Amino acid sequence: MLIRFERPDDADAIHALTWTAFEPAPFSNNTEAQIVRDLRTSGDLTISLVAEEGGEIIGHVAFSPITIGDIEDGWFGLGPISVKPERQRQGIGRALILKGLGLLRECDATGCALIGNPAVYRGVGFESDGKLTYGDLDTRYVQRIVFKGSPPSGVLKFSPAFDE
Ligand SMILES: CC(C)(COP(=O)(O)OP(=O)(O)OC[C@H]1O[C@@H](n2cnc3c(N)ncnc32)[C@H](O)[C@@H]1OP(=O)(O)O)[C@@H](O)C(=O)NCCC(=O)NCCS
Repeated sequence: MLIRFERPDDADAIHALTWTAFEPAPFSNNTEAQIVRDLRTSGDLTISLVAEEGGEIIGHVAFSPITIGDIEDGWFGLGPISVKPERQRQGIGRALILKGLGLLRECDATGCALIGNPAVYRGVGFESDGKLTYGDLDTRYVQRIVFKGSPPSGVLKFSPAFDE
């Protein structure tokens, strides 16, 4: 399996993969595939990585700028992330996340945050201390990994692509 940056001709495969991965999820409103497209169009798709095997894209992760309260620089959001259903729970998501976090560190980012199931993300270092909020969502689902400085407090806001 190869993890690499997306190429322009990957867009449709990423869209199909994201749709297929989220379609059965009870928490999803099936907007994730369009969110990836909109992030790309708006220039907010800071990092877009694919997992490729035998020429097929079997995983994808997006990272985009976020704000936390008054903090407007240095933080990035992880997601959407998708792994082909038949290939889930085989370490592909973890490999995509670790590669992306490594790239963010290399770019001197301050940290990365996400909304998601703690069981998926705690193994790669994401945590919640209750100080990062997202509407009235239980803060256990609002997680972050701090690369440098102190843990942030405040309201997490994603790129406009996530608002639609
Ligand atoms: C979530 C997703 C990207 C994880 O990718 P994956 O390749 O299946 O995950 P990995 O095999 O790399 O496992 C990473 C960790 O997540 C855990 N995990 C994976 N799927 C899980 C699930 N459905 N429920 C609970 N934990 C899960 C693994 O146990 C592992 O934990 P560890 O690091 O403590 O060992 C993938 O399952 C997926 O595409 N799901 C559908 C779309 C989705 O839900 N996206 C995320 C929305 S927050």
